[in-house]
Amino acid sequence: MKVFEANVSIKVLEFFSTTLGRVNSITELNEIIYRTSGIINFLSDDIEYGELKERVLLSENLVEEPDRTEYGDFQTNSQLAFKVAEYLACQSLSPELVIEPTCGKGNFILAVLHYFSTVKTIIGVEIYKPYTWESKFSIIDFFLSNPNSNRPDIHIYHCNVFDFDFRESAKGYLNSEILIIGNPPWVTNSKLGSLNSNNLPRKSNFKNHTGIEAITGKGNFDIAEFIASSLIDTFQRFKGSLVFLVKNSVVKNIVFDQQKRKYSISAMQKHVIDSKKEFNVSVESCLFYCRFNASPEFHCVEYDFYSNQEPLLKFGWFENKFVSRIDTYKQVGQFDGASPLIWRQGLKHDCSSVMELERKNDTFSNGLQEEVSIEEDLVYPLLKSSDLKGKVLSRTRKFTIVTQKNIGQDTKYIKSQYPNTFSYLNAHSDYFNSRKSSIYVNKPQFSIFGIGEYSFKPFKVAISGLYKTMHFSLVLPVNEKPVMLDDTCYFLGFDKLEFAVFTQILLNSETVQELLRSITFQDAKRTFTKDVLMRIDLLKVAEGISMDYLNSQLKDLNQKFHLILDSKLWFNFKRELTPVSNTQLVMFT
Ligand SMILES: C[S@@+](CC[C@H](N)C(=O)[O-])C[C@H]1O[C@@H](n2cnc3c(N)ncnc32)[C@H](O)[C@@H]1O
Repeated sequence: MKVFEANVSIKVLEFFSTTLGRVNSITELNEIIYRTSGIINFLSDDIEYGELKERVLLSENLVEEPDRTEYGDFQTNSQLAFKVAEYLACQSLSPELVIEPTCGKGNFILAVLHYFSTVKTIIGVEIYKPYTWESKFSIIDFFLSNPNSNRPDIHIYHCNVFDFDFRESAKGYLNSEILIIGNPPWVTNSKLGSLNSNNLPRKSNFKNHTGIEAITGKGNFDIAEFIASSLIDTFQRFKGSLVFLVKNSVVKNIVFDQQKRKYSISAMQKHVIDSKKEFNVSVESCLFYCRFNASPEFHCVEYDFYSNQEPLLKFGWFENKFVSRIDTYKQVGQFDGASPLIWRQGLKHDCSSVMELERKNDTFSNGLQEEVSIEEDLVYPLLKSSDLKGKVLSRTRKFTIVTQKNIGQDTKYIKSQYPNTFSYLNAHSDYFNSRKSSIYVNKPQFSIFGIGEYSFKPFKVAISGLYKTMHFSLVLPVNEKPVMLDDTCYFLGFDKLEFAVFTQILLNSETVQELLRSITFQDAKRTFTKDVLMRIDLLKVAEGISMDYLNSQLKDLNQKFHLILDSKLWFNFKRELTPVSNTQLVMFT
């Protein structure tokens, strides 16, 4: 940026922009500049003062960019783009046609120009006009500095990627090697929905989800996933490869959907990058690579982008199961089946400031810092994800009001049987009425979910769905009351302490830990879900465990937690894990 025909750095420009907003005269401004820099009489007259204001305001208009959230705008820094191209050059790629489907400021195009002398044509598409100019200026700059470089035909189109006919533009390259490279927008269709944006493919339900799946979030997808899948679909029979910087979840979905789509792609690779460093975002991302025109493959090999040495792991489809570590799974896959016990998610009320309490002497206090004096009957001890750290838990820091024994139970009884509890809940009915989820609509007052007979089992084995640690805690009753878990936790409930302990020992065994490591994805929003936990075939694990191991674990628990457990009931336990008939289970519902 130039002011008075002199180059001005962004920092100085920002300084003037804020300072000019605070002063009303040349004298005031000159005074501030003197104090800041020692320069006397920086401006000599009002004409200069007026000119400076005009230029700085103009530059503000130029510098200020519109909100680009709906365009998922995270430009790749040139260092990273060059490192990617360098890596590809080392893989002996020699593309003749290069396509950057959402080229932004053009850093991938510049990196390609730098590393590949085989390129004959480059096609860049970008929806934001200033970026197309920036790409073009940078390309001119590149050739001014490198006049002897290979000079392909370069087309930079100002166009919507969803309207661009890539197949048509690649018509003459059926037998040449092509490279599709880029970093498509980081934004999901649901985010676009909330922004009222139409930066969407026309076929926005491309995953063919049902209406209910769309509501539960399964219909949510990244625009980058749509762009990657469409380009793979279009170019799968061409010679060449696709290389995209994308969120890890996009790669996982592409590999997952490969079983159904069977695209002619192979050699899928995921090179994990440091998104915080490269893009200053907290979402996990990577460089995805695949080759076209091959027999379909169904797994992806993972590397660290920066060290790029040995593969870290291999994930994808193995014998009809989608797993996160294929090699580990090969050792423990036999325990991947159906749990004989039903895993439950904890209590859901979406009203924690009213429903969750802490004990204060003889009364309770709620999340609004109010003192709460209610009958104790409906108040139960509560554990949340962050509490599930120890091996055995017999105390809780929180409590929760449990208004129903099962889903949909009429709550009118509270008023007659527990008048103080009713007055308290009723005084906070606004909080209940403003719960957003549609599950509460037309349900009894103060309704909760994730409640049933199983919630009141005295002994539980629980795990947090949010944490990455595979640790199962034994939860004991507190003051003879069963402990509730919140809805970030999953648990199994038991009437007999021994059965809970045996289950905990099985779940914390190396076999189950390895199984979970091989079927859970560390970058998932919830590492553990009911679906994952229901895959643990506890009966098979029980059959494979030695009595010596069991007894040593019991001894350890007895010593550390002053329990008196033995293995006498082990065979009863195993018998009860065994289905009576084909599908019916005996012990737990
Ligand atoms: C994550 S940025 C990456 C830009 C560039 N590929 C890079 O690597 O630096 C995504 C780019 O996609 C562009 N974009 C978003 N929606 C688009 C659309 N519908 N058509 C074309 N470009 C789009 C944005 O303007 C932005 O420049």
